[in-house]
Amino acid sequence: MVPPPSERPEPVEPIRFFLAGPTYVPEDVREAMTAPVVAHRSAAFREVYARISRRLPPVFRTAGEVYVATGSSTLAMEAAVVSTVGERVLNLTNGAFSERWHEVCRSLGRDADRLELPWGEPVDPDLVREALRRRRYEAVTVVHNETSTGVLSPLAEVARAVREESDALVLVDAVSSLGGAPVETDAWGLDVVLAGSQKALAVPPGLALFTLSERAAERARARPHRGFYTDLLRYRDAHRRGGTITTPAVSVVWALDRQLARVEAEGIEARWARHEGLASRTAHWVEGRVEGRVERRVEAGGATFASAAGARSPTVSCLRPPEGVAAPEVVRRLAGRGYTVAGGYGRWKADTFRIGHMGEVRESDLEPLLAALDGVLHDVLHEVPEEPA
Ligand SMILES: Cc1ncc(COP(=O)(O)O)c(C=O)c1O
Repeated sequence: MVPPPSERPEPVEPIRFFLAGPTYVPEDVREAMTAPVVAHRSAAFREVYARISRRLPPVFRTAGEVYVATGSSTLAMEAAVVSTVGERVLNLTNGAFSERWHEVCRSLGRDADRLELPWGEPVDPDLVREALRRRRYEAVTVVHNETSTGVLSPLAEVARAVREESDALVLVDAVSSLGGAPVETDAWGLDVVLAGSQKALAVPPGLALFTLSERAAERARARPHRGFYTDLLRYRDAHRRGGTITTPAVSVVWALDRQLARVEAEGIEARWARHEGLASRTAHWVEGRVEGRVERRVEAGGATFASAAGARSPTVSCLRPPEGVAAPEVVRRLAGRGYTVAGGYGRWKADTFRIGHMGEVRESDLEPLLAALDGVLHDVLHEVPEEPA
């Protein structure tokens, strides 16, 4: 039997895996997945599902329910649109994943307008207000934390703008913020908040988690042809019967159950603060080198933030390497030293690299990575050949 996480709250392994998702999964959570698979309508499964159903709402900061779908986060994005938007939707775009919302809406034949902001910038609530005054929309989509650019948008203000200017639903992708940054589903009036298991919650990939407001449920009820797997109301009904709509990824549900106990033991606010601390430490490293406060700067060269100051994500830092250094080379050389970071995403692929400091990462994990990064930048700038793999 694996001891529950309350008895071993800290992951014991050093973390060297800093992708922007999927993230490092603690050993006991991985072990939890080796528990026998059971029928999903059995009492044993229902017991675990009930526990998860109690533990998820505090993570989403809602007094309502949180539903579990087997699939990745994109399934929940598509399901949210299918279920709640008949025709017209406004997509707020400032990076690759907010553009995905737009693609999803268009692929479903919706009349989707884009309010396009530059990559690296947050969504501007005033521009949202203006767009809503120009045209009426049934829903507005927004990505809280743009994983492609390392930008956190002011979700509370964006949601307030939507609420004050219109009756549009607020559909939120909180994929890489949930569990790592404040997401206040109820207080901010968010209609659908969706996330995946594999980011700041530090559970293996395979489950999408989402909320559905009463207002959004009413809109869904009025919509025909919501599909089967994409019908948010069907998830709600199944949840109220104590389970999932179809056979879930049972082993990932075991992992989620185990990891939610750790999240609860840490406390959601402490978890947000830990992530904020990791982002600050990374910013301190970057700024030290740029401003020459750190002696090694001349040797190591500075990386700079690709994301706008004041909007930097607590869960992922998106950086540009110093002049003359190719981002993919930084990623490759770090891998040679045993560290995995994420490359750039989409149109920023060649120019940036990303440090995912989310999930279970501690400052004691981040320090060796930043030291390795100093070493890598030094080696590239001084044309030190790479060690053969
Ligand atoms: C902000 C954001 N939205 C959506 C997705 C898509 O998630 P999934 O691969 O779980 O469908 C990602 C994945 O990285 C993401 O970071």
